[in-house]
Amino acid sequence: MAKAKGSVFFCQECGYESSKWSGQCPACKEWNTFVEEKIEKKTSVSRKDIAAAKPSRLDEISSTDEKRISTGIGELDRVLGGGIVPGSLILVGGDPGIGKSTLLLQTCQQLCGQKISVLYISGEESLQQIKIRADRIGRFTPELELLCETNLDLVRGVITERHPTVVVIDSIQTMFDENVSSAPGSVSQVREATSVLMRLAKEQNIAIFVVGHVTKEGVVAGPRVLEHMVDTVLYFEGDRHATYRILRGVKNRFGSTNEIGVFEMRQSGLAEVKNPSEYMLEGKPKGAPGSIVACSMEGTRPMLVEIQALVCHSNFGMPRRTAAGTDYNRVNLLMAVLEKSVGLHLSDQDAYINIAGGIRINEPAIDLGLVLAIVSSYKNKPIDESVICFGEVGLSGEVRGVNMAEQRILEAKKMGFATCILPKVCLKGIQNMEDIQLIGVENVREALNLL
Ligand code: TYD
Ligand code: MG
Repeated sequence: MAKAKGSVFFCQECGYESSKWSGQCPACKEWNTFVEEKIEKKTSVSRKDIAAAKPSRLDEISSTDEKRISTGIGELDRVLGGGIVPGSLILVGGDPGIGKSTLLLQTCQQLCGQKISVLYISGEESLQQIKIRADRIGRFTPELELLCETNLDLVRGVITERHPTVVVIDSIQTMFDENVSSAPGSVSQVREATSVLMRLAKEQNIAIFVVGHVTKEGVVAGPRVLEHMVDTVLYFEGDRHATYRILRGVKNRFGSTNEIGVFEMRQSGLAEVKNPSEYMLEGKPKGAPGSIVACSMEGTRPMLVEIQALVCHSNFGMPRRTAAGTDYNRVNLLMAVLEKSVGLHLSDQDAYINIAGGIRINEPAIDLGLVLAIVSSYKNKPIDESVICFGEVGLSGEVRGVNMAEQRILEAKKMGFATCILPKVCLKGIQNMEDIQLIGVENVREALNLL
């Protein structure tokens, strides 16, 4: 491939930059992802500029108490770390159709209701399409201003002129700068658009939400460079077949990334789920073998989930195993632990594991729940419905401690569970609680004897 003057090649997957084309990206090992893009020549700085740029001492910098803008959506505020910081650039990523536009439109509506000026710029949908969505959500403030535009210079001009407090750009992949020759959505376009918006946000103290598409590998499409540039990265995720959606903070310069927000997609837009545990335990069967509730943590938030197992005799030499909502290899490992340390004969049994509600949990604290559910199904003995458990299981069958035991127990108590099986080490430092009986176990065998 002949190379034009002043151009470089970018990997469209990871943003790797190279002076020559190659078939495979040396960084992310993807094939055929290099695209040639033109680079504009930058003006250099003069000696005077350098002399003027003087570093400041920490004690010379006044610390202003940053004022956050509440979005009016509690779950979104929680993930943002208490509200929108003026002048911040927030990237919202997620699969197509997950509800990014809906979430941001609802945010705009809430902000408008508080008399905060917002501007919603869409490069993907027409005004009519947005209106249809707004009508579906209902209760709209008439003052909300919308603009359909993809030209970056125009967008910049409009924002500068109208100077709203909050701007939404849907989506960054549709914005294009005429000075950059490559197509919209390519690495240099997205990079240019992001840096323009970043400058706008900082110089004029405007909070800007940017929607970013996600590739099938689950990263914001094309450039991961985008994630490095913005202040906050939020991912909106969920199962296509389930109605709940989770908003997760991946990066946040103004707060922790531990928090998640839970929403439910309804006929009339997204609704907050204030109590995810209750939501996840809806429809739990009564007196069925192979089912137990475990307590997992999502950041600082406890979440109770029902673990289901179905273990039955295999008709083939090679037993079938599946795990929906958790790690398949972990399930195999735990079954091997049961075989070795408890002496259960599971090698000729099929096992199907499911975390009810369509949520995905990879936290080791649900190990004990998985083990108990498997054994309960194998022995065809239901577990008492008032029992809840958590704890990590080690390779020799020991039950290991997990963090934040107290929060987990409190959540279990709140949801009305009477007995909690937990790692013995976690009992230390926890005061005796009323209404809930705590049983510490050291290994899997002890836990199984309780049932
Ligand atoms: P959307 O916000 O357009 O997704 P994104 O911007 O992330 O691509 O959401 C689209 C999906 O949400 C669509 O499949 C329909 C569904 N939806 C509802 O179920 N109820 C509603 O009120 C709205 C607005 C959308
Ligand atoms: Mg959209």
